[in-house]
Order: sequence, then structure tokens, then C-alpha cells
Amino acid sequence: MKVVATIAAVRAARPELGRLGLVPTMGFLHAGHLALAAQARAECEAVAVSIFVNPSQFGPNEDLARYPRDMEHDLALLEAGGVDLVFVPAVNEMYPAGFTTWVDVEQLSAPLEGAHRPGHFRGVATVVCKLLNIMMPERVYFGAKDAQQTVVVRRMVSDLALPSEVVVVPTVRETDGLALSSRNIYLDPAQRQAAGILYRALTAGRQAWLAGECNAQALRQLMVAMITAEPLAQIDYVSLAEPETLVELDAVADRALASLAVRFGTTRLIDNLIWERRAAAW
Ligand code: PAF
Repeated sequence: MKVVATIAAVRAARPELGRLGLVPTMGFLHAGHLALAAQARAECEAVAVSIFVNPSQFGPNEDLARYPRDMEHDLALLEAGGVDLVFVPAVNEMYPAGFTTWVDVEQLSAPLEGAHRPGHFRGVATVVCKLLNIMMPERVYFGAKDAQQTVVVRRMVSDLALPSEVVVVPTVRETDGLALSSRNIYLDPAQRQAAGILYRALTAGRQAWLAGECNAQALRQLMVAMITAEPLAQIDYVSLAEPETLVELDAVADRALASLAVRFGTTRLIDNLIWERRAAAW
């Protein structure tokens, strides 16, 4: 496994890698990231992972300074996962003095996470665009947990005709349903236990819909009531939106993206579930 820190070193290593799968990460890797790398391993000739805590996607009052980091452990996991190339740029490699070009995926960046984290998706889109230009992967892998991120990145790749295919990999969950996230490390034991409410609310909402409730406001309210009953949880939003446009629904017909952001103390967690009607079994 080659570990490089400069764009020039990636460009020098790139020709011998063949059909490449890229997994962009911010490090502090967990089984969710490893599932992305495993799928890339299965589908591509070579696998690259980038580890870069991207300052431009954090707001001024967010957790950039305390975002968890453990490079040694990350590299050991990636080595064991059969990764070929790891790109670990410093901030001034990605944002040199005078940097002034930004990618803004309008509309799709505005609601949900974008409404609570102004500028977040401008930072994500810009760094992902730059990573794709540096690494030129045939495929790039993202976790379904960051649902809006996948929608924004897909749109950017399509609008800018970037020659990489976006692949979205299902969320990896703990046994109580909590989605794996590097930020779960911030939770104290009581908050960790309380955080199971996110997945329970998403699945209870889906059950109510499958049982016949189609009114989106009633379904949102059902999820809000469940989460509000958990004293350690504070809701940022609970959304039921059209999965491709992210427009809020009045009624849920065949498909919806149920997504939410909830705070436990100073830790903010997001999760989502695509609700779909399954075909009849016969
Ligand atoms: O999902 C993440 O970890 C980040 O948003 C990403 C895609 C690596 C861009 O910094």
C-alpha cells in the first residue's frame, strides 16, 4: 500500500493502477468506510482512499478542531482491507494560498443539512470535485448515510460531465440500528443508548406508511413524537422528501427519503431510510 501526500505523487502513481475505485473519507475509519473499500475492491482493479478532514465543509461553530483523527489506525485498517493507494494531503495541498474556485450545487444544497449547515455542501462538492480531478477514478464510493451528499455529488458529476461513476453503498448499522459514524465516539453511554431512537423512528414511520398512512405531515409527526419522547434527543429536522429532488412531500405514494438530524448534547447525528413499497411476494 502506497501512502502519498501530494497531488504530484498521486499523478505519478496513477498510471499503474488501472480501473480505480476511490473512497473519499475524513478518516477515523469504521466498518462503514471499510464496506465502501470492500465494494471498490470487488468492482475495480485498484482501490484508493483519501483521508482529508476538509475544513471548508465545517461551519465556524462546528467540530473541525475536535473532529476525531487516528491516522495510524486508519492506515492499518486500509492495509488489511487490500487498499492500494492512500492520499493524505495537508490542508495547503488542497487549498493553496490564493485558492478561490468553488463548486456550488444550487437548489439541492439548500434544504435539510444545507439549511442547518450553510456552506457545507459547497465545501463537500468542491473537495470531491478536486479529488476526482486528482485521482481520476472510474468509480467513486459514498455511504448512503449521507443521503443529501450522494444527491448533491451525483448532480455535480452529471452537470460537470466528470468521468467517474458514483456508487452508493448501504449504511452499516450497530445491532440497535444506530448508523456507524465517526461522530458516535462523542456520545456518552446514556446518549449512545438514547441514539437508537433515530433508527426506531425511521422504521416506525415506514411501518405506519406501509400500514396505510400516506399523509406526510402525519408521518413526520409520528417520528417527531417518538424522538421528542427521548429526553436526551433534540431535533434539528425530520423530513419526508422526494429522493432525487429533496422536495418535501405532502403525501407519500411509492417512494420517499425519510431523513433526520438530531442532537445529543453537542453531538449532531444524521440518519435516513428510503421508504419503498416491496413487490408482492407471489
Ligand atoms: O462523507 C465524508 O466523509 C465527506 O463529506 C467527504 C465525502 C469525504 C468529503 O470531504
